[in-house]
Amino acid sequence: MNSAPRERQPSVMPLAQIPYQPTRIPPDDALGILRADRIHAERRRSVRRFSEDPVPRTLIEEAIRLAGTAPSGAHREPWFFCAISDPDMKRRIREAAEREEREFYDRRATPDWLEALEPLGTDFVKTHLTDAPWLLVVFRRDAQSGPNGSRLKSYYAQESVGIAVGFLIHALHRAGLATLTHTPAPMTFLREICGRPIEDKPFVLMPIGYPHPDATVPDLRRKSLDQVASFE
Ligand SMILES: Cc1cc2nc3c(=O)[nH]c(=O)nc-3n(C[C@H](O)[C@H](O)[C@H](O)COP(=O)(O)O)c2cc1C
Repeated sequence: MNSAPRERQPSVMPLAQIPYQPTRIPPDDALGILRADRIHAERRRSVRRFSEDPVPRTLIEEAIRLAGTAPSGAHREPWFFCAISDPDMKRRIREAAEREEREFYDRRATPDWLEALEPLGTDFVKTHLTDAPWLLVVFRRDAQSGPNGSRLKSYYAQESVGIAVGFLIHALHRAGLATLTHTPAPMTFLREICGRPIEDKPFVLMPIGYPHPDATVPDLRRKSLDQVASFE
């Protein structure tokens, strides 16, 4: 029996290493940058009532590009963004979402879930899905095509897409745009309407636009640093 170690034939060559030397920011300057960013971030709110004012497609494109800079498991970039401004597609999405949401509020939601939602005042009516100039459907890709007809699996796809959506929400807010992290359950209708393959799982439905002049938001408080962090 041949006990020699099996030679590993790598099917993919390692990437070349390139220098990475970003400018180091002195801590005092960094603190100023972070504070200013945090104060701006504190003003971000989820919006459920949108103005119908148009938003240029270039802004949406740039925000998606920014989201795509997120880290991802094995750099598989397991996301896909379907940006919709077509009124007929928005109407179909709203109809399907409201069907699911009505079912959720009337039957599927557990009493403690409904109790958690009570302070937010949400219900099954989703006017934002037709009022907002853009709907962005974010998909989590569990597998995708690779070179030479291969299939590439995703790793930590859920976490990776969550991080990308975080980048996206922050970017939209920096651009003065509002959004809502909307998760109708189930969301499979979004795959059909957007014509995505079975490996693409709808992750979140985001209306994007400017808040309606009469928009209001729940007067919620955020946890303080000592409630969410410990330093050992
Ligand atoms: C994963 C996730 C799912 C959410 N799903 C919904 C939803 O389906 N409908 C909705 O109105 N808000 C939804 N929200 C928005 C939250 O209610 C909102 O972020 C929270 O109340 C805090 O408010 P803020 O975003 O204004 O800080 C969701 C948020 C997250 C992060």
